[in-house]
Amino acid sequence: MIRSHTCGELRLENAGHQATLCGWVDSYRDHGGGLLFVDLRDRYGKTQVVFNPESGPQVQELAKTLRSEFVIAVRGTVARRPEGTANRELPTGEIELRANHLEVLNACATPPFQPGAMELPGEDLRLKYRYLDLRRPDMQRTLVLRHRMIKAMRDYFDEHDFLEVETPMLGRSTPEGARDYLVPSRVHPGSFYALPQSPQLYKQILMVAGYDRYVQVARCFRDEDLRADRQPEFTQLDLEMSFVNADDVMGIIDGLVARLARQILGLELALPLPRMTYDEAMERYGHDAPDLRFGMELIDATDLAREAEFRVFREAAEAGLRVRGINARQAAARYSRKGIDELTELVKQSFGAKGLVWFKVEEGRTLASPTAKNFAPPLLARIAERMEAEPGDLLLFVADSFEVTCKALYALRKRFGEELKLYPPGTMHCSWVVEFPMFAWDAEENVWAAMHHPFTAPRPQDLAMLASEPGKCRAQAYDLVINGSEAGGGTIRIHDNQVQQQVFSLLGIDPSHARQRFGFLLDALQYGAPPHGGIALGIDRWVMLFGGLDNIRDCIAFPKTQKATDLMTEAPGPVDARQLRELRIKTDKAT
Ligand code: AMO
Ligand code: AMP
Repeated sequence: MIRSHTCGELRLENAGHQATLCGWVDSYRDHGGGLLFVDLRDRYGKTQVVFNPESGPQVQELAKTLRSEFVIAVRGTVARRPEGTANRELPTGEIELRANHLEVLNACATPPFQPGAMELPGEDLRLKYRYLDLRRPDMQRTLVLRHRMIKAMRDYFDEHDFLEVETPMLGRSTPEGARDYLVPSRVHPGSFYALPQSPQLYKQILMVAGYDRYVQVARCFRDEDLRADRQPEFTQLDLEMSFVNADDVMGIIDGLVARLARQILGLELALPLPRMTYDEAMERYGHDAPDLRFGMELIDATDLAREAEFRVFREAAEAGLRVRGINARQAAARYSRKGIDELTELVKQSFGAKGLVWFKVEEGRTLASPTAKNFAPPLLARIAERMEAEPGDLLLFVADSFEVTCKALYALRKRFGEELKLYPPGTMHCSWVVEFPMFAWDAEENVWAAMHHPFTAPRPQDLAMLASEPGKCRAQAYDLVINGSEAGGGTIRIHDNQVQQQVFSLLGIDPSHARQRFGFLLDALQYGAPPHGGIALGIDRWVMLFGGLDNIRDCIAFPKTQKATDLMTEAPGPVDARQLRELRIKTDKAT
């Protein structure tokens, strides 16, 4: 029996016609007296199938053997559901299929969970039986969304003359700064390929080769510590352009963001997307990917702290540290002493803050807290004014280095944003953060480290500072931020060999090491490299953001756990001794 329709297709206008459906038994209800209902499901929807005495005794007997997730084909007459039994929630809810033919295409072992159930099983179970989990309508919606988003991206870039070019998976180590996944070579024992952390080097070489607009839906591999928005294996929308500046690259992406927001969410975004410098983002939000769906900016009070009787504040200000705070509007009643103690522990344990000073704002704008007695009332009044405090607000302050105040207050702001529901669900805020520093000081290794990667070009006006004050040098770098998440990042590249050598030496990469790691790129850059730059977008994160999901694993058909394992295939796993011998590999871990 070949299906005539999908399970999401039949409507009232089909009533009276014969139809054949194939799918999985989502649920079955035996009402006795020969009346049995089955909800039949495929990825297009659900249709109610009725077996009754008119179905005939054989069909009825067979119908009684149906269980959850059996795969069946069923033919029957499409009929309007009896008065009062229509289901308005279901697109097919006005009809039912009255069966007169049934074929069981396959039985199903008792499933560990019901894909059709409301209640979500534990994630380990979902990952182990991913094929059952992927039958759930939520997962199907997400994979459809992912497909539509990638298709819209490809269409957009095709319209703008980009060529999709595939780059190798087996290559040399790439410079994104995470640990590589290595693949041993059998032909060259003791040598390894590295899986790409991104197609960075290849796409730059494609520019040298004259493919001035390149794009790729590219798989990337990074052996790093995983978080809710990171996977060891993920997908980038990767692109590179020649003869462009940072504005050109951002302009292309602006158009893409606007198109997807319109097509997928029905939102009209005003272009160009707003831009903020890195310094401003750190000052106002304490982070380089600020969530701009709500205010609650970080406010500096170092000058007031200098006048404070309260020693913690005064000494910090005198020592050149910063005293900064946030105003959690109307949150005073919501956070008890115990709640605030928890916040204090959070900033101390996770961010190395030494404490948290807080005030609840009372009538007449007076500030109340155990610490208030350490301040003269006029200074408290000025603090209240600086913080634009209103009765009912909760003020929180951290006195520390700029970095610690950033981290601690960023975390508090993020938490208040969620807990106090400071933005309506479904809002989307997209913006750029630009002019990142070229380098960050790595205190452990005592060297400069590239903020983005070693091929990033400094701003032309900062070139002179490369030698004198590398820490002040700003890059032609841009990150796309959506709802406080880094949705993409890129830079204009260095195409001048001398500048490249200077950057390598600042990064402590000596010429022979540079040659060994990226010699092929440095060679290519000598053979007529055009000025170029690009960006990569994290597709998995885009699906998360556009789908309103909070777990990156829900955006990927077959993801890895936080421990980088695949619970379905049980990868990574041991291999045969013979395979290891062929590769001339000995492990020192007994398996
Ligand atoms: P970058 O390392 O910033 O840049 O990566 C670009 C974007 O990829 C996404 N991303 C990830 N998504 C899921 N899991 C991960 N582990 C992960 N790591 C990164 C983020 C990020 O913004 N070659 C450069 C781009 C360029 O310069 O053109 C690069 O890879 O959304
Ligand atoms: P102490 O004088 O150490 O008992 O601290 C008094 C109050 O100041 C407590 O609420 C501490 O959490 C807070 N505190 C101490 N050090 C800091 C700091 N560096 N920044 C913000 N609050 C602090």
